[in-house]
Amino acid sequence: MPLTLLITGCSQLVTLRGPVPRRGRAMAQPRVIRDAAVLMRDGRITAVGRRTQVERHADAAGAEQLDVGGRVVLPGFVDSHTHLVFPASRAEEYEQRIAGKTYEQIARSGGGILSTVRRLRKAPAEKLREKARAFLRMFAAHGTTTLEAKSGYGLDAASELKTLELLRLLDKEQPLDIVSTFLGAHTVPPEYRGKPGGTEAYVGFLVRVLIPAVALEQLAEFCDVFCDRGAFSVAQARRILAAGRACGLVPRIHAEQLAHTGATRLAVRLHAASADHLEKITRGDIRALARSNVTATLLPGCSFHLGLGRYAPARELIAAGAIVALATDFNPGTSPTLSMQMVLSLACTQMRMTPAEALAAATINAAYALGRHDRIGSIEVGKYADFAVFDLADYREIPYYFGVNHCWLTVKRGEIVYSREMSLLPR
Ligand code: NIG
Ligand code: FE
Repeated sequence: MPLTLLITGCSQLVTLRGPVPRRGRAMAQPRVIRDAAVLMRDGRITAVGRRTQVERHADAAGAEQLDVGGRVVLPGFVDSHTHLVFPASRAEEYEQRIAGKTYEQIARSGGGILSTVRRLRKAPAEKLREKARAFLRMFAAHGTTTLEAKSGYGLDAASELKTLELLRLLDKEQPLDIVSTFLGAHTVPPEYRGKPGGTEAYVGFLVRVLIPAVALEQLAEFCDVFCDRGAFSVAQARRILAAGRACGLVPRIHAEQLAHTGATRLAVRLHAASADHLEKITRGDIRALARSNVTATLLPGCSFHLGLGRYAPARELIAAGAIVALATDFNPGTSPTLSMQMVLSLACTQMRMTPAEALAAATINAAYALGRHDRIGSIEVGKYADFAVFDLADYREIPYYFGVNHCWLTVKRGEIVYSREMSLLPR
């Protein structure tokens, strides 16, 4: 691949330059440059602007040129909440839900997260790797260039470490950046269930054994807890996240998805990186988030896939000044989509975010939630050359033409990692 690449022919270059994180009205300012060009060298952006300006840069003359033919160019999507590693779909539960069972009923009868745990424990690492690799190629093909990925389908030392080690390997062997999160507190594993004090004993094991082991091996950057009805309580989440913090793992939390528990307030008190889901938050929670630096990560794929009418109150969060991000929550139980484009469509239509707000939430604010806003999330000089090019002339058409992959080209740190035109792919 050329070390210096000049991309021209952008009908709209949506830079997302501006204040970080984006709050309130600033979310609706995507900063669009027409007839734009971007110059990159050694994986970083060296010039951005009108084509005539960029072409005057000293590096432009010797650069390999790629004309994207009047298409839309965005920063690569940052998907800040996924459960990338899982062994199989749960299509049978999808049918059960269509027939009327709820997600929680299925979970209580031994399905749900536990059914994926049973299968992951038995799955050879090589099989999990093949599956995750295929998904990662699809993430790239849909315009995602960085994703967060959680463990949480192992729930014993061997299987949690197997998952996190696999994430580390995947991060190294393929071009997308993977940010790892330890989610040992996803649900109580079978061997601790049904015994008095079983949940507390599992929390003790996480706090005393598994969290220190994960931190020692530097296998994760974040620690997450599913703090909800039927999962872990606020008190348990506090203990787990404090233990993680003590070992250097930054807290984030699954909050207020199934019921209101107070998990959002805990996230604010702990200065967590993010509180995710938030379908059941209160006005008080919204005010607390707005006063904090905790990113409110909304996952509309869940409400859509579970067939629920209730989505997180995005408009109220934005009006109050909270930092709003969007993510897929890619997982086999509640949101089996890896398309950030689909998430944009859901955010616009179901949560009434404007296309511009949704884009800020899917790029720069998501980068902030992962502590990487200095490197990714916008198209600015010095940042990684991470782009997605869409086969459209107006960025609003990405959510508008829903359910279709518009991604035409994906560039990660200056390298083409996906192209619809095979001739552009590196040989
Ligand atoms: O983010 N809510 C908890 N965890 C996932 C669902 C995991 C599963 O059902 O497998 C979520 O929705
Ligand atoms: Fe999740």
